[in-house]
Amino acid sequence: MENLNSILNGKQTVAIVCNQWGDTGKGKFVDLCAEWADIVARGTGGNNAGHTIILNGKEYIFHLVPSGILRDGEGKINIMGSGMVDDLGVLVGELDELDEQGYGYNGLRISERANVILPYHKELDGKHSSMQKGKIGTTGRGIGQACADKVARFGIMVGDLKDKDNFVRQLKRVQGHHFYLDIDIDKIVEQEMKHYQRIKEFVCDTDALLRSEMKKGKKVLLEGAQGLLLSIDYGTLPYVTSSDPSRIGLAKGVGLLPEDVDLTLGIVKFPFMTRVGNGPFPTEYGGKQSEEYCAEGEGNANKRETEEGKYGRMPSETLINFPDPLTKGIGIRLAAGEYGATTGRPRRTGRTDLVALKHAMSINGPDIILTKADCVAGMDEIELGTGYVDEQGKEVREVSHGSDIAYGLKGLYVRLSGWGDISGCRNYGDLPRSTSNAVEFLEGWTGARVRMVSVGAGREQTIVKQ
Ligand code: IMP
Repeated sequence: MENLNSILNGKQTVAIVCNQWGDTGKGKFVDLCAEWADIVARGTGGNNAGHTIILNGKEYIFHLVPSGILRDGEGKINIMGSGMVDDLGVLVGELDELDEQGYGYNGLRISERANVILPYHKELDGKHSSMQKGKIGTTGRGIGQACADKVARFGIMVGDLKDKDNFVRQLKRVQGHHFYLDIDIDKIVEQEMKHYQRIKEFVCDTDALLRSEMKKGKKVLLEGAQGLLLSIDYGTLPYVTSSDPSRIGLAKGVGLLPEDVDLTLGIVKFPFMTRVGNGPFPTEYGGKQSEEYCAEGEGNANKRETEEGKYGRMPSETLINFPDPLTKGIGIRLAAGEYGATTGRPRRTGRTDLVALKHAMSINGPDIILTKADCVAGMDEIELGTGYVDEQGKEVREVSHGSDIAYGLKGLYVRLSGWGDISGCRNYGDLPRSTSNAVEFLEGWTGARVRMVSVGAGREQTIVKQ
């Protein structure tokens, strides 16, 4: 894409992160930028992430391998960095899937220093998620427990599996730490060593590899996972994931410094946003009622079918203009296909929260990409969150940390005119005045620099704003 080159020109390292609670459509931009890059690297999270890529009309969802993997044939290197937590069984499953689809992965490199997720992490995940300060509603993949073991210095790294005796020794240490669990060392060793044999040719010191390739002038794309508001360091604690998906955490997770990143593009869903799992969401359509309604569907992949069956025959414009906010939120979920890529859960929907965005930008920087603006075609009026009212009736217009975005806050909104079908627009000037007004309102209010507006899943449905 010629237009995209105008943004990437002269840059060596570009990061794509999310400025909300994840699921903002990073995959499309990672794929677009992967064409430009020589190396695509992930640095945070694990298979709690779900990256959707549409290539030649087919949809691919990856959880662990970087999204540049489908470009392996072009000689790209795809790095799974040291900051990740890797479930080797899931990874092997993804490699099998690539084999089946006829894609190679010669350029895959897996950090020997990434921690591994083991069966006892998954076992603990469900138990702890419901016991913690609030019910988090994790993805149940053992992410938090693997990260906790890392911090407690009981983590096991991919490189520890190089030598079976060493792996057994490490597991014995863990057995002492998690003395209340029944850890079957023999079973774990048998299973994980089998997985390791399959991936071992790709395991190396990826931090060193990345630095040496950068010295040669290779272009690098850092692929974020989750979102800033889910950060363990900056997010809406305790309803967060266990890594730092900011540009800082991402750079660290591939062995770089934040200042090594020339450009960070923060993805922002607009004019609505979503959250999956529990936690405060002051601008949610239908508030607490929506949170409870979506929680009911946890682990229930049929929620989509149920909603489609119940509302599917109603025109989208009727639903998204419904006076009742809960129904309006369901209408947006259906129109935008907002069901989890990893768990199939219905995503909670709300208005784009500019207060939360300003906080995210204070860490990730001002350059942003707006996505899914086409999904609200036919909405008469859109709302953007410009503040909160707390339980004492006090107005809040700014937060200094994600944990300030707490339960009990109610959103305050600015109301702007909506728009019709914009999916065919290719230039910023093609957008209706109402859309560009809303984009420019967001820029004025937050200080953001909108670099692109996405008006559909297709690569060509991308508007570059100069
Ligand atoms: P965990 O990462 O599985 O520990 O889950 C912690 C919280 O982060 C839960 O609310 C999850 O729903 C949320 N979460 C984790 N990964 C993602 C993601 O990729 N997109 C959106 N939410 C996520």
